[in-house]
Amino acid sequence: MTVEQLTKATAALKIQPLKRNFSLDALYPSFKVQPHIGTEFKRGIQIRDLLKAPNADELFLDLAVLIAERNVVFFRDQDLNFEEQKEFVDRLGKISGKPATSGLHSHPISEESDEFGEKNYEVSSVKNKTLEQGRRDRSEFHSRGFHSDVTFEVVPPDYTALRLRELPPEGGDTLWASSYEAYDRLSPAFAKFVEGLTAFHSGDGFIALEKAGLVKINAGPRGSPEDVGTHLSTSHPVVRTNPITGWKGLYVSSGFTKRINELSKDESDVVLQHLFNLYFQNHDLQVRFKWGKHDVAVWDNRSALHAATADFDADAFIRVGERAASLGEKPYLDPNSTSRRVALGLAPPTARRAHLASLAAEGKK
Ligand SMILES: [Fe+2]
Repeated sequence: MTVEQLTKATAALKIQPLKRNFSLDALYPSFKVQPHIGTEFKRGIQIRDLLKAPNADELFLDLAVLIAERNVVFFRDQDLNFEEQKEFVDRLGKISGKPATSGLHSHPISEESDEFGEKNYEVSSVKNKTLEQGRRDRSEFHSRGFHSDVTFEVVPPDYTALRLRELPPEGGDTLWASSYEAYDRLSPAFAKFVEGLTAFHSGDGFIALEKAGLVKINAGPRGSPEDVGTHLSTSHPVVRTNPITGWKGLYVSSGFTKRINELSKDESDVVLQHLFNLYFQNHDLQVRFKWGKHDVAVWDNRSALHAATADFDADAFIRVGERAASLGEKPYLDPNSTSRRVALGLAPPTARRAHLASLAAEGKK
């Protein structure tokens, strides 16, 4: 499918960008962790209180916009059970207008657990040790782990919440990177070029695990009638509009994006590597979170990539938690949407400003 076809097919799902109502600020104060990405709520604030607040809808709408604008939001030391964690992400999606057919995601390789029921994806260093066995193609570049969750699904998640309850004494941090800011690092000419492209996403790592007899893939439906089958692959636009902010972001990741459909293999490799490098090599568009027990991170899976850090001794310590993901809309590019920097009236990134200034100076010679 071309970008035009993908966009036309999803035009009915488009909603107007939303604005913050700032209902959170008086009772639930937060601060920016980094200029471009990440907001953290003050310690003591509980998600459970938000769920039970008399003006919960107003608060959730404000939070949905805040997360979409800041990519990822952190809550420290939460007293929250998994049913509440699922309700939390589902309400964020519903209040901000996700399609009625989008529920909570069932991960293709997750099993129902006695403790947490269905729709749970366990993030576990113990499980990873088993699943990593026999993988000969692992890169020594840790940044290759950057991904947006399950983008091989036709309908991927909008909001994802992860709580960790077992942690190593140090290490195991998670990094998030802003797809808005990565898009803003493209020159206007290159941005126009990639906006005409679609990319093939595949969960081939999970298929390999099934072939090795380590997991069984759930053929679905996995939370949306369109998330079905065991092929775990689809195509999405390379640049995606976030319907909540109306901002464009790069929607590719080294985790799942395999090929740009409209380009030759060699061209695709070069272009994708450049796009990945925008995330890998720009630590000013990343935020690194040092987890405490029972902390919750909730991110906009449409506009953020993330990567965990496997720097601790997994034979001596464990890192375990649960993830719940709400499914959003089918990704689309609205050609009338804008970049975050343009929308916020921010100057272009430093290198482009310097380049434009040097061009202007040369013109005066
Ligand atoms: Fe993930």
